[in-house]
Amino acid sequence: MSIDTERIDTVETPRRIAFIGSECYPFVKTGGLGDVMYALPRALTRSGCSVRVLLPNYACIPQKFKEQMAYRGSFMMDLCQDGTSFYVGIMESELDGVIYDFIDNREFFDWGNPYTGLWEDIPKYCYFSKAALAVLNYLDWTPDVIHCHDWQAGLVPVYLRTRFADTPVGRAASILTIHNLRFQGICSIDHLKYWTGLPDYLFDYAVFKQSENEANMFKGGLAYADRVTTVSATYAQEIQTDFYGEGLNGHLSYHRAKLYGIVNGIDVELWNSKTDALLEKQYDVSDVLEGKRANKLALQERLGLEQDENKFVIGLISRLTDQKGLDLVNAVFQDMLDEDTQIVILGTGDPRYEDSFRYYESVNKGSVCAYIQYNESLAHMIYAGSDALMVPSLFEPCGLTQLIAMRYGTVPIVRETGGLKDTVAPYYDDKGNGFTFDRYEAGLLLDAVKRARTLYTGSRALWDNMVVRDMEKDVSWENSAKQYIELYDFIAPKA
Ligand code: ADP
Ligand code: GLC
Repeated sequence: MSIDTERIDTVETPRRIAFIGSECYPFVKTGGLGDVMYALPRALTRSGCSVRVLLPNYACIPQKFKEQMAYRGSFMMDLCQDGTSFYVGIMESELDGVIYDFIDNREFFDWGNPYTGLWEDIPKYCYFSKAALAVLNYLDWTPDVIHCHDWQAGLVPVYLRTRFADTPVGRAASILTIHNLRFQGICSIDHLKYWTGLPDYLFDYAVFKQSENEANMFKGGLAYADRVTTVSATYAQEIQTDFYGEGLNGHLSYHRAKLYGIVNGIDVELWNSKTDALLEKQYDVSDVLEGKRANKLALQERLGLEQDENKFVIGLISRLTDQKGLDLVNAVFQDMLDEDTQIVILGTGDPRYEDSFRYYESVNKGSVCAYIQYNESLAHMIYAGSDALMVPSLFEPCGLTQLIAMRYGTVPIVRETGGLKDTVAPYYDDKGNGFTFDRYEAGLLLDAVKRARTLYTGSRALWDNMVVRDMEKDVSWENSAKQYIELYDFIAPKA
C-alpha cells in the first residue's frame, strides 16, 4: 500500500511526534523494539521533527542514565474502575535533540527486566498508556501524531479517543506500529475493565473482546488507531493470513485500508564498523577483507575457538525463542558443522534452546561456542568477526540482525519471511546479498548453509564481491523515516 503523497499538505512548523513504547536503547532493551525506539526518533529529529519519547522509569534502567534525568513535575491520576488514583512523576533527559520523558511510579516499575509476567504487566501498561497521555497534557506539549509501539502502548489510541478526547492531546492523530503480533496483552475482560476503567461498550468484539471471557489490549488499539503500521511490507501481508495472524488476521484484514508496511533501518552511526570501538580492528569497505580477518581471529581467541582465519564462521545472535527458527538449527546442528566450519551463538531465552546449544558446545569444543547471555559488546564482535549470520526465523516482522550483519560485511543466511524476505536478495550469479530458503524445513536451512560455505571456500572472489555489496547496501533509516514523515503529514490535524 503506498501513501497518497499528492494529498499531503505543506507543513511549515516542525511536526511534533510523541513516541510511546515499553523499551528504548540505551536505557532498556530486550530486542529490536528497543533499537527502533532509539533510532527512528533520531532520524526524525535530523529531518526537522520535534520528538519526545515516553517510557516507563523502570528500576532496571542503569544508574548512569538515572543520574542524567531531571525532575519535571508530578500529579495524581485516577486509573481503575473504582477511581483508585496513582502517582505520576516525570523525569526528563535529552540525548542528541530527542527528549525522553520517563514516567515514574515505583508501584508499577520497580520489578522486571523490564517485563515480569502478564498478570503484572497488564496493570503496568494500562497505567503507562494512560499516564503517557496525561503527561503530554501536563507538559502542555500537544503532538501532531502519537506514535505507539506494540501491545504495551495499545491502549493509547483508545484512551485518546475516549477519556482524553476533550483534552488538548485529543487533537493528535495516532499510529500503532506492530513490531511483533505474537504478544498481544490478553487477559480476562473483568481484569482489563477494572484496570482501564473504560466503558462497557468498548468490550465488544469490534474493540477489546476476543472471546467470551477474554479481552485483548492490542486488538483494541488496532481498532482505534488512525493508522496501523508494521515493520515490513511482507509482514503487513502475512499478518492477514491464518498462519501469521496470531488470531488477529480477520481483525487486521477488516482494517487493512489503514495498514501499511514500512521496513526498519538501523542507526548507521551506532552500527559503524569504521568507528566501532568494540572491534579489534575498525574497517570500512576499502579494507573490509583485512578488517574482517583481524576481527575473526580476535573473536576466536575471545571465545576459545581454534584460531584460523580460513574457518567459515557462522554467527547467530538472537532471543532464544520459537520465533527464531531454532528448532531447525537444532535439527541439523551437527550436519552444519564440518572441519572448515565454526558456529558462534549469542542469546538467552527458552531453557530448551539454551541447554541444547550448551550441549552442542560441549561436544564440539573449539568449533562451537554457545554464549548464553545478553551481551552488547560481544554482539559487535560477532557481527564483525563472522563470515555469515544465520536468521532462519519461523516469522520475522522485520529483523535487525541481518541488517547489522550486512552493514559489517557479514553475509546473512535467512528464511524468506517478513522483513528477511524484503531486505535480503538471494545470491545468484554474482548478485544478491545472502542465502535464503523458503519453506520452514531443517533440510532447506542445511542446504542454504552448504551453498554459502561452498561459495566461501570454492569461489572466494564471488563471496568477497557479496561482502562488498552488503556493506554498500543502504540499511539506514533515511528512506523509511521519510515514509513515516509522509504518513505523519497525511494524518496530522490540519491547523
Ligand atoms: P527481535 O526484536 O525479534 O529480538 P531483531 O532482529 O529485530 O529481533 O532485534 C534484535 C536486537 O537485539 C538486535 O539489535 C540484536 O543485536 C540484539 N540482540 C539479540 N540478542 C542479543 C544478545 N544475546 N546480546 C546482545 N544483543 C542481542
Ligand atoms: C520485533 C520483531 C523484529 C523487529 C523488531 C523491531 O521484536 O520480532 O522482527 O525487527 O520488533 O521492529
